[in-house]
Amino acid sequence: MTKTTFSTRRSDPYGPPAAHRRLQAEEPIAHLDWVERGGDVWTVARYEDVRAMLGDTRFSSDRSRPEHPAHPAYSPRSHPGRIIEMDPPSHSANRGRVMGEFTVKKISAMRPRIEQIVNETIDAMIAGGNEGDFVELLSLPVPSMVIADLLDVPEEDHAFFQEKAGIFSDGLGALSDKQKASADIVDYIATLVDARITAPGEDILSRQLAAGASREEAIGLGHLLLIAGHETTSNMISLSVMTLLDKPELREQLENDPALIPGAVEELLRYYTIAETGGLRLAIEDIELHGVTIPSGSVVAALTNTANRDPEVFPDPDRIDFTRGARNHVAFGFGPHQCLGQNVARLELVIVLEILFKRLPDLKLSVPVSDLALKEYSNFGVQKMPVTW
Ligand code: HEM
Repeated sequence: MTKTTFSTRRSDPYGPPAAHRRLQAEEPIAHLDWVERGGDVWTVARYEDVRAMLGDTRFSSDRSRPEHPAHPAYSPRSHPGRIIEMDPPSHSANRGRVMGEFTVKKISAMRPRIEQIVNETIDAMIAGGNEGDFVELLSLPVPSMVIADLLDVPEEDHAFFQEKAGIFSDGLGALSDKQKASADIVDYIATLVDARITAPGEDILSRQLAAGASREEAIGLGHLLLIAGHETTSNMISLSVMTLLDKPELREQLENDPALIPGAVEELLRYYTIAETGGLRLAIEDIELHGVTIPSGSVVAALTNTANRDPEVFPDPDRIDFTRGARNHVAFGFGPHQCLGQNVARLELVIVLEILFKRLPDLKLSVPVSDLALKEYSNFGVQKMPVTW
């Protein structure tokens, strides 16, 4: 196959890059020279193919393979508990040990605490005046507080944890600052794990250790939960609120019928699919997909954002429809690595939408959506979102 030059730059926050849409229509399995990836990548763009690829472990997630396209900002060190970087059988064993922590039932029990976190964050906004950057004031702190809670980070360390998580997730930050923040978080989580080896508590890390996780596995998992759950959820909070502020008819729909909020969250997850290239994989054999052979050693990206706009599966895909019932979307990936924290993310988004407009009825964007600088690659979002209230 010939290689096509490709870029993921977006100009419109409401739509995936035009190049992605073209691939879906014309080259659903493509071999690309991908500008932002520094070269040679295969992409899969249609819903069914994306699910087939993400469900097939011959497309490896194992980032200890030197040819695997590891995320440069994660950490200079890798840890065994980082399940997102593993293949079976170690992935199945490690994921199996932690899955019970993220059931709908377990996560629903966090509702009162998440409501408290959201309310306190809004209290701080109100106390601080009536204008500011929504990303900094609410979208970033809420998910990092929720993860701090999951890991039972002591109150006195919250500021440190928030600061490091914020640096890591800052779309405008330098790579070296992110790597430093990531390493600091690993060191910090190591101190938490060591404390729990000596004195186990009632938290995920203690339970993982009791269930047989090694010190290194517990550290890796703690780090991954923050990295995977912070910026993603933060970007989705900002984009969801942006949409409702920019499209008053949608906001009105939710205000008139709050029972629509869970469906709205699902639709917004589908619509934005912020983990743009949710599953980057390495083909470890020659693999045939839809009549095309992807050679062993190829880097392969599942374009989940175009899959979620596949008109065969989501009719009129560019329309935001809170009654669509879009739970079959692939915004949380698909297959063995499907997002472990999806119930946490859903609950945070639902609670923010339930509380925000009641507490801040005059919330408005200070600039038009077209002026918002976009975060691109690898998690889509807005850099800043100036608002008044
Ligand atoms: C809107 C928010 C979120 C989005 C869009 C999102 C998206 C994703 C996606 C696409 C994957 C699959 C990656 C792959 O296939 O390689 C994933 C995996 C994962 N996510 Fe999320 N995520 C979100 C929030 C969270 C939260 C809140 C947590 C934790 C508290 C979390 C923890 C994880 C973990 C641990 C994995 C790895 C699972 C595995 O490899 O078995 N995520 N996420």
